[in-house]
Amino acid sequence: MRILFIGDIVGKIGRQAISDYLSQLKQHYRPTVTIVNAENAAHGKGITEKIYKELLREGVDFMTMGNHTYGQRQIYEFIEDATRMVRPANFPDEAPGIGMRTIKLNDKKLAIINLQGRAFMQDIDDPFKKADQLIAEARQETDYIFVDFHAETTSEKNAMGWYLDGRVGAVVGTHTHIQTSDERILPKGTAYITDVGMTGYYDGILGINRDEVIERFITSLPQRHVVPDEGRSVLSGVFIELNSDGSAKHIERVLINDDHPMKY
Ligand SMILES: [Fe+2]
Ligand SMILES: [Fe+2]
Repeated sequence: MRILFIGDIVGKIGRQAISDYLSQLKQHYRPTVTIVNAENAAHGKGITEKIYKELLREGVDFMTMGNHTYGQRQIYEFIEDATRMVRPANFPDEAPGIGMRTIKLNDKKLAIINLQGRAFMQDIDDPFKKADQLIAEARQETDYIFVDFHAETTSEKNAMGWYLDGRVGAVVGTHTHIQTSDERILPKGTAYITDVGMTGYYDGILGINRDEVIERFITSLPQRHVVPDEGRSVLSGVFIELNSDGSAKHIERVLINDDHPMKY
């Protein structure tokens, strides 16, 4: 099982980076499945149905979300029918959408689980207990399990990686938009990275125009977040290969920008 996962796609520049690089990345890595985090795809907040379909057309197979899942009102109209999407599973049951889906790839099944952290984030259900419950369900019927843990702190993500070691194929972190260089295979066979990073505007701050963000730090006054439509881009992700027993064989960071040009 070969998984290409691309981190938080932010706005138009992020979507353009997918359109510019995804086919080359797929040629190089030959993924069985391509998953992206799409919580920021619509102008930095949430996703629309049009963008959901556009990403599928670009060659994305599946999308995970995060704290911005409900950032566009339209999501309420299509999320229940969006079979190629999961939102954090530890949101209350009343929240629209679902946190785990199983997809069939050739004759194998892959469960994709989305969870969200609680440290410096919304106070939602316990992601660790939710993980236990979903993994127990997934193990009944799937060969492979992939987890996107959308969380703020490195410690909570690290804890999730170790907690799930040996029980899932991969735990990848999203949300901070900065790629960490700690990718590894944990001792019991789970591929792990604290954060894969984001895909969007390279010369901003986490994909957002930098001026307003700097102003906010200087003045402590509220500022509008602007996601630019033009500029240099970065694409961040990870490539993971799983063994037939569901454990991880290989994990490799993917980072493309003007300072780290694509080599293939
Ligand atoms: Fe994000
Ligand atoms: Fe987020």
